[in-house]
Amino acid sequence: MQTYQITRLGHQGDGIVQSDEGAIFAPMTLPGEEVRGRIDGQKLCDIRIATPSDHRVSPDCRHYKSCGGCQLQHASDGFVADWKLGVVQQALSAQGLEAPLRPILTSPPQTRRRASLSVRRTKKGAMAGFHAKGSDVIVEVPDCQLLHPEVMKAMPVAEKLATIGGSRKGELSVLATMSLTGLDLAVSGGKPLDEALRIALSAEVEAYKLARLSWDGEVIGQREPPLQQFGAAQVAPPAGAFLQATPEGEQDLLTTVQEIVGKAKQVIDLFAGCGTFALPLAKTAEVHAVEGEKAMMAALDRGWRQAQGLKKVSHEARDLFRRPLMPDELRKTDAVVIDPPRAGAEAQVRELAQSDVPVIAFVSCNPVTFARDARILTDGPYQLDWVQVVDQFRWSSHVELVAKFSRMA
Ligand SMILES: C[S@@+](CC[C@H](N)C(=O)[O-])C[C@H]1O[C@@H](n2cnc3c(N)ncnc32)[C@H](O)[C@@H]1O
Repeated sequence: MQTYQITRLGHQGDGIVQSDEGAIFAPMTLPGEEVRGRIDGQKLCDIRIATPSDHRVSPDCRHYKSCGGCQLQHASDGFVADWKLGVVQQALSAQGLEAPLRPILTSPPQTRRRASLSVRRTKKGAMAGFHAKGSDVIVEVPDCQLLHPEVMKAMPVAEKLATIGGSRKGELSVLATMSLTGLDLAVSGGKPLDEALRIALSAEVEAYKLARLSWDGEVIGQREPPLQQFGAAQVAPPAGAFLQATPEGEQDLLTTVQEIVGKAKQVIDLFAGCGTFALPLAKTAEVHAVEGEKAMMAALDRGWRQAQGLKKVSHEARDLFRRPLMPDELRKTDAVVIDPPRAGAEAQVRELAQSDVPVIAFVSCNPVTFARDARILTDGPYQLDWVQVVDQFRWSSHVELVAKFSRMA
């Protein structure tokens, strides 16, 4: 075994050894560490830490070594915060941009309200958990430090569902989401539905008092609408629809968006989902929400109609990649909120750069596409005032942010 020096972290959170053949990935190591190991392809295996980093800490979770759910529990919170801020800074500087970065806001442990569980039938029954690092083996995680205790309650339910509807060889994927009315489970990868399976699954909806159970997109049973609270409104999102990862992270994003939007009276919320931002903003502003998924728009609309005391929220199902809002549709708007998927919003941003919208709150889960889009805005009449990094994917390499853009006079 040879000794290697870790020079930096890659975008997936692995340590990197720079060799003549390029980057070698060394999982669970930190920059500055000397490690011993064996190179296998692009990976360093059988790693022993010879000289640990000052930033190395004991993981909070006893499953960390085997479970692939977290990547950065061996690093101090301060190190992870600086690394995530650095990822954003590098993405911006690659586009020739710089901006003040506010101190990161990190969600506490045990707050993830949604998890995608992997479940497999076994000889004795079934096991639910996460994939082991770099493998399709499932690791059970009864003491997981990431998930909210209410989401942990989905583990035995997922196992029961697998014994009923899991195929012998395949793996079931159970998306478990906490709601105000109980667990909302969306299952895929199981046996095809027939009448007997429907009846057996419906019985489990009652037995476990699930808010809703859906199987390959079909709702099997719903005891109560699986409600999420967005400001004064309660919304029942379609099964499997996008939801921010932690309530704390969502609140951090929302507070920052509200600060940017300020006293705006007319707001357009682009890539609006089920109304995470649109509905709370409707306390003080009229909002036009635009989103690609019709069912999400319908859910937002139902939530708005049932809520008390909100200003008007109009909605539009529209593909913003192919049909972005044009500058004349953005006229008389005081503020735009934009929260695209990882691909970013290049087409929409090109139109925003031609608009006279005074202020833009840009929420992003991908610093690279964000920086590309920011460059389009700043090549136009906008300045990038500051960036707030929000970490609702604690111990992972994900980075999220909210940025403020103002139109220069
Ligand atoms: C990161 S999520 C944000 C949703 C919402 N703002 C929230 O915080 O809950 C991105 C949203 O963009 C929507 N989306 C993806 N591609 C789209 C497209 N081409 N046109 C419009 N909406 C799209 C997704 O359905 C999803 O709701």
